[in-house]
Amino acid sequence: MTPYRIGVIGLGQRIAHVLGAMAEVGWPLELAGQVDPAPVGAPILERFGIPMGRDFASPQALLAAGPYDLVMIGSPNHLHFEHIGAALDAGFPVFAEKPIVRTQAESLALASRLAQASRRKGGGPPLFIGLVMRSMSIVRDVIRRIDAGELGEVISIDATEHLPPEHGGYLARNWRRRQAWGGSYLLDKVCHDFDIFGRLAGARPRRVASFGGRRIFTVERAEIAPRIWNDGEAAYALRDAGWMGANDAFQSDMDVTDHQTAMVEYENQVRLSFHANSHVGLSERRWYVAGTEGTLIADLVRNRLMVRPALSRAKPERIDFGERTKDAHNGADQSMARDLLASLRDGAAFPVTPFDSLEAGLTVMAIDEAMASGEMLDCRPMWARYDAAVASAAPSRS
Ligand SMILES: NC(=O)c1ccc[n+]([C@@H]2O[C@H](COP(=O)([O-])OP(=O)(O)OC[C@H]3O[C@@H](n4cnc5c(N)ncnc54)[C@H](O)[C@@H]3O)[C@@H](O)[C@H]2O)c1
Repeated sequence: MTPYRIGVIGLGQRIAHVLGAMAEVGWPLELAGQVDPAPVGAPILERFGIPMGRDFASPQALLAAGPYDLVMIGSPNHLHFEHIGAALDAGFPVFAEKPIVRTQAESLALASRLAQASRRKGGGPPLFIGLVMRSMSIVRDVIRRIDAGELGEVISIDATEHLPPEHGGYLARNWRRRQAWGGSYLLDKVCHDFDIFGRLAGARPRRVASFGGRRIFTVERAEIAPRIWNDGEAAYALRDAGWMGANDAFQSDMDVTDHQTAMVEYENQVRLSFHANSHVGLSERRWYVAGTEGTLIADLVRNRLMVRPALSRAKPERIDFGERTKDAHNGADQSMARDLLASLRDGAAFPVTPFDSLEAGLTVMAIDEAMASGEMLDCRPMWARYDAAVASAAPSRS
């Protein structure tokens, strides 16, 4: 079988893992070329036995050496807009990592561009976004049950994402620590979750409020050579911080939050509270969905689902989806790799659209705006600008 010819812009740890998962599930692939000033993903690719392909100095040089069956974008978030635009201009199918873009202005401009392309004959090259949770079996099951009305009407949702200290420490050293590169803690880390919450609520946020800040990774809390209490191993030592990395999680120039809470009221009155912390002893990523007829708890760390009708005293239904992996993705990368192949080869629908991805990003940006202003934010003007951008050719600026 002729291998899929792949070009990569931003060969970091993420794209290397996605390429590895693609190879694992049987993609015939050839990494033809890549652009990256210092590819963090090189050792990961080597472990998967995937040769690096040709080095290109710029996306333009890589794209000119096409054709490619897929251009994969894994650069830091502030470069997504430029890189997605260049790859779409070249006319090749694109897979870009989440968050699709970093700002509201970029979201509107891309929405307008994609909407215009979709109105043209042929529709433009496909754009797949790596909102990988959409491909997880547990998430698919949650969506299926809610769509089937198993919980009745969704009334309210409570959700968390709590990271162990080494992961939080990595975020505080990596490029994600700066708004200019990553956007924000929530945008980079939980646009996945807000994509699913919007899907479960079946509506867009009407108003949001948020409190957050930095009280963990601060100079005042810096220690010399911190250790894990029970085994003496060096703490905060999860992998090299990579591109624009800082040495010390507590003494970097971080300007994003390290913990944050948010309240969201959707247009259809579904209400949600969210709590994220990047330095906990008990890791958790959990969605508690309460409907008129039933309740479910999705434990995304343990990959387990628990469901019970509201008017039942029987034991809850418990489903263990297994597949637990150290990367906490629990087989999602492999499922996404299968979804991607099915889309490219057979034209199957990918589980998430670029417009879903833009709306998830805008939701998180609204939450961050509400946190910065200290006021509850009415999201309607933002959605009006977004809808206008989708409807018209000319992107409006926010
Ligand atoms: N879907 C997921 O679960 C998931 C998980 C992790 C990361 N991500 C996303 O993947 C993307 C990459 O994150 P990562 O963790 O791999 O980061 P990383 O730091 O490991 O990789 C980023 C790479 O981009 C390269 N780069 C920097 N400037 C560049 C430029 N001008 N042109 C080309 N390459 C450039 C860096 O050298 C580095 O190799 C981000 O958008 C991130 O949000 C998604």
